[in-house]
Parts: sequence; C-alpha cells; structure tokens
Amino acid sequence: MIEQTLSIIKPDAVERNLENNIKSFFEKNGLKILKSKKVKISKEEASEFYKVHQTKPFYNDLCNYLSSGPIVVMILEGENSISQNRKLMGATDPSKAIEGTLRKMYGISIDKNSVHGSDSAENAKIEIDFYFK
Ligand code: CDP
Ligand code: MG
Repeated sequence: MIEQTLSIIKPDAVERNLENNIKSFFEKNGLKILKSKKVKISKEEASEFYKVHQTKPFYNDLCNYLSSGPIVVMILEGENSISQNRKLMGATDPSKAIEGTLRKMYGISIDKNSVHGSDSAENAKIEIDFYFK
C-alpha cells in the first residue's frame, strides 16, 4: 500500500550537514520526498510533539534536544513507507542498529540518533498534520 509517513532529520544530523546524504538514502530505497522544510521548533512545540513520552525519564532532555537547533521535517511517500522508514532508520540506540541503517551510519548516541520516523499509520497522520497543516 502506498502511504505517507513523517521523517525528521534531528539537530545532530543537520549540524553535520547530513541532510543531502539522508535524503538520497531515502530516495535510493524507494521513499519519495513529497515535502521538506527546515524549521526550528520551540520547547513547547517539542513537548507537544513528543507528548506520548511525557511520563518517561528522558522526556525533558528529549524536548530540549529537539528544540536545540534546526531540524528538517519531511513527508515521505512509498510502498509501506511507515515500516520501510523504520527499517531504514534502524534501532533507537545506534549501538544496537544493524549495518546499513541510518542510525548505524550517523547516530552518535541514543539521544542523538539523527532521525525520527512515525511508528504507526495513526501517528503518521498526527505527525504530518503537526508540521504541515
Ligand atoms: O525514535 P524511536 O521511535 O526509535 O524511539 P522512541 O522510543 O519513540 O523514543 C523517542 C526518542 O527518545 C528516541 O529517538 C531517542 O532520541 C529518545 N530516547 C532517549 O533519549 N533515551 C531513551 N532511553 C529512549 C529514547
Ligand atoms: Mg518513537
């Protein structure tokens, strides 16, 4: 099924000029970039975006981090794009991500893991609306 998902290039990767590498990696792997913009969000916006994690011990650091510098938000479209993007990203912790995944290639640590991707159809819709509505 052709579907859409939200991807974010996080501050650590934007800072290292990895935007073009990451975009061409998606395109080489069957995901089309329908929309893309570079933005800097506030702590309040990051807190809203990550509110599913509000009870987690890492929530505050996570929200500070996502709002710490420019990010690139994208709508990716393709066959099973939600699971395909998650596969291309690799495990949340880069030290556990398999060879050939974005987080293995570029992730620095579990908190600076370079990319975000929606985890379900429901969240993809919510997250796309959050950045592009
Ligand atoms: O991003 P992903 O869906 O793979 O992981 P998550 O469990 O939804 O967590 C969201 C983000 O919180 C991760 O991408 C990490 O940047 C961060 N995180 C963290 O800093 N420390 C953890 N123990 C778990 C997640
Ligand atoms: Mg997640």
